[in-house]
Amino acid sequence: MIKPIIKTLWWEKERLYIIDQRQLPDTEKIIELKNTRDVWKAIRNLSIRGAPAIGCVAAYGAALSSLKIKTKDKKRFTETVNKDIGYLQTARPTAYNLFYTLARMKKILEDSGGVSVAELKQRLVKEAQAIYDEDIECSYKIGKNGAALVRDGMNILTHCNAGALATSGYGTALAVFFAAKVERKRFHVFVDETRPVLQGARLTAWELKKTKIPYTLICDNMAGYLMKQGKIDMVITGADRIAKNGDTANKIGTYSLAVLAKHQKVDFYIAAPYSTFDFSIKDGSFIPIEERDGDEVRKMQGKLIAPSDAPVYNPSFDITPARFIKGFITENGIIKRPGGWLRG
Ligand code: MRU
Repeated sequence: MIKPIIKTLWWEKERLYIIDQRQLPDTEKIIELKNTRDVWKAIRNLSIRGAPAIGCVAAYGAALSSLKIKTKDKKRFTETVNKDIGYLQTARPTAYNLFYTLARMKKILEDSGGVSVAELKQRLVKEAQAIYDEDIECSYKIGKNGAALVRDGMNILTHCNAGALATSGYGTALAVFFAAKVERKRFHVFVDETRPVLQGARLTAWELKKTKIPYTLICDNMAGYLMKQGKIDMVITGADRIAKNGDTANKIGTYSLAVLAKHQKVDFYIAAPYSTFDFSIKDGSFIPIEERDGDEVRKMQGKLIAPSDAPVYNPSFDITPARFIKGFITENGIIKRPGGWLRG
């Protein structure tokens, strides 16, 4: 079993715990999510965030829902868990992992003919645990596969947080750095602060500091200047949803980086597990983009930095067309173009 770099979320004695990411880096506060409503709220308010982590916590949320139900009537039990799954699916719209893991939990209910309510509860817990275990294993493999791209002396730029905190505990883009460090490669990471809610500054910088990986924090609008100066050798980010043709939704600002990287001839990679690929949609135009509260832009860390009534547009993600992406670093190898393997 792979040990998490950071304990982002965990299940212990039928209880679900997370590290409250809104409070990082100042405070490492652990909170218990006691019911489906708590899980929904924690996803919505970014206490837990990052596509794979959202998927894992939602699966545990469905298991938690099942354990709270008193009835032994199978039909009523199944209806209630299904209703809670439907509710959890509304927590955030973009990250595909949420829909992927909840579909797996739903399937356990569908395939439960002849099974008692008590046994079904155990199966749901087991499935959530399997989703968590698979996620950490995928992250580890992503790290190993991606580390092959890291060469001594490289400067690599990342955006948002695709680290241990965004997954079950090992990361995607940051997994590449963790694995490259284990392989004793010498490299340096530039971290975009990632406005509006600063996942880069608050979370990625915190993870890199904790793991002793050399990094420099920059404002989002500095990346172009750095690339122009030849200071960036490669860009690696995570993903929230990848369409069948490779178009990728990730944190707002990712598209601008990819365009800059193309212009400056810098390789741009996406690191993500297969659970982030939505093969049901043919391209990025079908990916729903979450719009969040305007106060995230008007304020910084709760403090107003603009008129309190400033009109705001706050899309949380953007779509990077596949043509800007050099490859997808996955648990099965690096996909150079849809359908073709570079390494594996
Ligand atoms: O709004 P967030 O913090 O959930 O957005 C997270 C990202 O955009 C990450 O880059 C993405 O989920 C990949 S995480 C491995």
